[in-house]
Amino acid sequence: MNKRDILLLLGGLLIIVVLWMAPEESTTRVPRDQDHLRFYTIVKKDGKKAAEKFCLDCHNADGVPFPKDHPPKNRCLLCHKMRFK
Ligand code: HEC
Ligand code: HEC
Repeated sequence: MNKRDILLLLGGLLIIVVLWMAPEESTTRVPRDQDHLRFYTIVKKDGKKAAEKFCLDCHNADGVPFPKDHPPKNRCLLCHKMRFK
């Protein structure tokens, strides 16, 4: 092995290590509790868009407020994944 091969090898290893350490998707998932269980059925049957219509019923300023720095919130379920196994 010459010097160049070794550098290539180290470079490859570095990339693997970096990918390894990247956090898993970190956005909180939709809980699997009383409030949210029915959405698991809706998503399975009619898709995400059908379920998302109801999120704002509870998730609003008078109910469960959003964190102050919450990103734009149409399409909840594209960011907040369900807890399917
Ligand atoms: C019946 C009321 C209700 C509806 C409808 C509802 N939620 Fe919630 N949600 C709650 C409550 C109460 C909490 C806070 C307590 C908890 O963590 O369960 C919560 C918490 C959350 C959390 C944070 C969980 C955590 O670990 O901190 C997420 C994400 C969430 N909801 C997403 C959704 C999405 C997406 C929808 C629409 C598909 C939705 N919710 C519909 C009541 C509701
Ligand atoms: C563009 C991506 C995105 C969309 C769309 C989105 N969210 Fe979020 N949401 C986030 C991020 C990022 C956070 C910050 C905390 C975290 O979950 O990591 C957050 C936080 C929350 C929290 C607080 C969670 C906690 O741990 O305290 C709730 C509840 C929540 N979102 C509900 C919703 C609901 C309901 C919708 C749809 C109306 C929605 N979000 C749409 C990205 C998104």
